[in-house]
Amino acid sequence: MVKTYYLYIDGKWLASHSGETFDKINPATEEVIGKFPKGNKEDVKKAVDAAEDAFDNWSDIPPPKRGKILLKFAQLLEQNKEELAKEMTEEMGKVLVEARGDVQEAIDMAEYMAGEGRRLFGKTTTSELKDKFAMTIRDPIGVVGCITPWNFPIAIPSWKLMPALVCGNTVIFKPSSDTPRCAIRFVELLEKAGVPKGVINLVTGSGNDVGMEIVRNKKVRMISFTGHKETGKQILKEAGIKKVSLEMGSKNVIIIMDDADLDLALDGVVWGAFGTTGQRCTAASRVIVHEDLKKKFEQHLVERAKKLKVGYGLDKGIDVGPLVNKGALEKVHGYTEIGKKEGAKLLTGGNRVGTKGFFYSPTVFTEVSTKMKIFQEEIFGPTVAIFSCKNLNEAIYAANSVEYGLSFSIFTKNINNAFRAIKKLQSGIVYINAPTIGAEVHLPFGGVKDTGFTREAGWSGIEEFSNEKTVYIDYSGKLQKAQIDTD
Ligand code: UN1
Repeated sequence: MVKTYYLYIDGKWLASHSGETFDKINPATEEVIGKFPKGNKEDVKKAVDAAEDAFDNWSDIPPPKRGKILLKFAQLLEQNKEELAKEMTEEMGKVLVEARGDVQEAIDMAEYMAGEGRRLFGKTTTSELKDKFAMTIRDPIGVVGCITPWNFPIAIPSWKLMPALVCGNTVIFKPSSDTPRCAIRFVELLEKAGVPKGVINLVTGSGNDVGMEIVRNKKVRMISFTGHKETGKQILKEAGIKKVSLEMGSKNVIIIMDDADLDLALDGVVWGAFGTTGQRCTAASRVIVHEDLKKKFEQHLVERAKKLKVGYGLDKGIDVGPLVNKGALEKVHGYTEIGKKEGAKLLTGGNRVGTKGFFYSPTVFTEVSTKMKIFQEEIFGPTVAIFSCKNLNEAIYAANSVEYGLSFSIFTKNINNAFRAIKKLQSGIVYINAPTIGAEVHLPFGGVKDTGFTREAGWSGIEEFSNEKTVYIDYSGKLQKAQIDTD
């Protein structure tokens, strides 16, 4: 029996207004894991109204008390970690150890943001006038729409919902249609943790029927979106006057200099490029290697890539799970065809694995030029393009030649190279002697250029989800005029 799931609006689990549902399949077995409500405009309207009604009470609750609810949520995630991880692997394919890591990231974020309930720092400063006091405090923004992707189906919702809630906002949560079940589990635990009705509302359904309705709704004061660049552009066009925070794709790079520890760099590339089947915004889909190391590096990388076990993420010893859906499989294979046509040399992989499930072999291209599409465009799969360089300047120039800039890395033992790379790489995150993946929750996360301009997580997450209110208190007892000369 396939289970039917519900929307969560105003504290109630409901069928969608239309009564329609959509099926979600396991990308490894192609079996249907559940039927999920196809939300529409009416559902969004109901959810927004509920969120608006709940705002006054929620934002009045002292932040340390809101933080306590988040701490309880962290504990519930911890208690349910194994089951959530297993369900995640079934729903979107990442291997079990990584699914556990995804849940762990949400636990960490919930704990961090719970503590923020006792900080939410504003600033105090001086005044140019006598007997006048000046400071800032943090206000919630209001009803916020959180639109999340499938690749971190528990972690990324936590990046958005935890700071949103601790700051006193109420939320409309629209998850990717590839991971509705993880989103439902997430909300079930929030409800159990004691989030009052109307404070969080979950509407599943398509980007057009649900996502863009949230974006266009005037009562929604902020949209926080992680996903495709094309969707991000549409959001910017249609959001009207509201805060829009976007985190879109990237084309990350690992630079390997001639003075690098090659074994360490290899470990980094294997994890950065093929971990999560390359389906991370932070995945390393390009390697720029110094020409002196190129041959050796390629040999070893191919050996390592061939050894990786592709298969169902719930089975033991699997390194690389399936791609998320059929469209992703077609897209990734399309890029293999493009790479070959562009004249790059396929060293290994480049084919579908098996006939059931959306598995793809770890794929390595070399003799890639910076102009090629496989060097420039986000593939979001286990495909890595190798470019060789003569020196650091050339490497940095090639690294920065793409439209995106999220997470770039360099392996080098030379401190001058390292600092030069930190300064010159055009990305929101730089790693030295570590791969491009593995950002921690208490530091800002976000990119530059077409990746977007948002900084999520850590203290930046609090800044994102609150408005700074400036307060002047005049205790002189007389009218004092700023900027007006008095003598
Ligand atoms: C993403 O792919 O959008 O740094 C998020 C990392 C993870 C988060 C990735 N902590 O790879």
